[in-house]
Amino acid sequence: MSEHPSPYASAQAPVRVRIPHLQQMKAAGHKWTMLTAYDMYSAAIFEEAGIPVLLVGDSASNNVFGNTSTLAVTVDELLPLVRAVSRSTRRALVIADLPFGSYQASAEQCLHTAVRFMKEAGAHAVKLEGGIEMVPQVQKLATSGIPVMAHIGFTPQMEHQLGGYRVQGRGEDAQRLIDSAQALEAAGAFAILIEMVPAEVGRAITEAIAIPTVGIGAGPHCDAQVLVWQDMAGLRDGQLPRFVKQYADLRAVLRGAAMAFAEEVQAGAFPGPEHGF
Ligand code: KIV
Repeated sequence: MSEHPSPYASAQAPVRVRIPHLQQMKAAGHKWTMLTAYDMYSAAIFEEAGIPVLLVGDSASNNVFGNTSTLAVTVDELLPLVRAVSRSTRRALVIADLPFGSYQASAEQCLHTAVRFMKEAGAHAVKLEGGIEMVPQVQKLATSGIPVMAHIGFTPQMEHQLGGYRVQGRGEDAQRLIDSAQALEAAGAFAILIEMVPAEVGRAITEAIAIPTVGIGAGPHCDAQVLVWQDMAGLRDGQLPRFVKQYADLRAVLRGAAMAFAEEVQAGAFPGPEHGF
């Protein structure tokens, strides 16, 4: 195994990140990152930054379509976003999130939806939410050649059943999550996303399985970390979840640019002679 197993070790390497690369990174203790992306520019910029995995999340429901939860977004709304991200990248592994209601009914429904994302939008893998109850779906995808990331802990599509946005896996409930992760690994999942659990539960799950864990509010011991890009870059306003760290203030940058444009137009400073024909 190389000392730097990251497929992005060489900035120019046009190699497509594939599932074995992620497993090699776990084996080598090399932490990696995933960001959401929903369009061409965000995807291309994050790939340039060396982010190996891009998730076209059902969080597009909130962050693109303006809904108040992830439940509303449809397969037909997400397909063009996945297509834009996979067309705009050469190296990142692109994962399509399966929307609420598009996979829970049966393994066959799940396969049908996942195939649409692979064939019509160029996704390289899919993600679905749920624990042991999703084993038939994960088995069906894995045996059909579709890499699948499972998502446990707090699962936003189940927010009404879970009683809102709440930390999962406290106390004795931790064992349920460990059992779920092991069952999903045995069913063929290539990775497990863990959302909003105590850090020690994130660690216990990560140690209990051989496939990578991707944490969001699941502590520092996961093999990888994911954030929604608008949260990470400071585009979103209002109160942020505790697990978010803002690495930029893009909202202020964009607001400033829009105000400068408006002021220059009002003052007659734009367009200048250099912008005319
Ligand atoms: O859709 C999404 O953005 C997610 C997050 C947990 C990363 O699933």
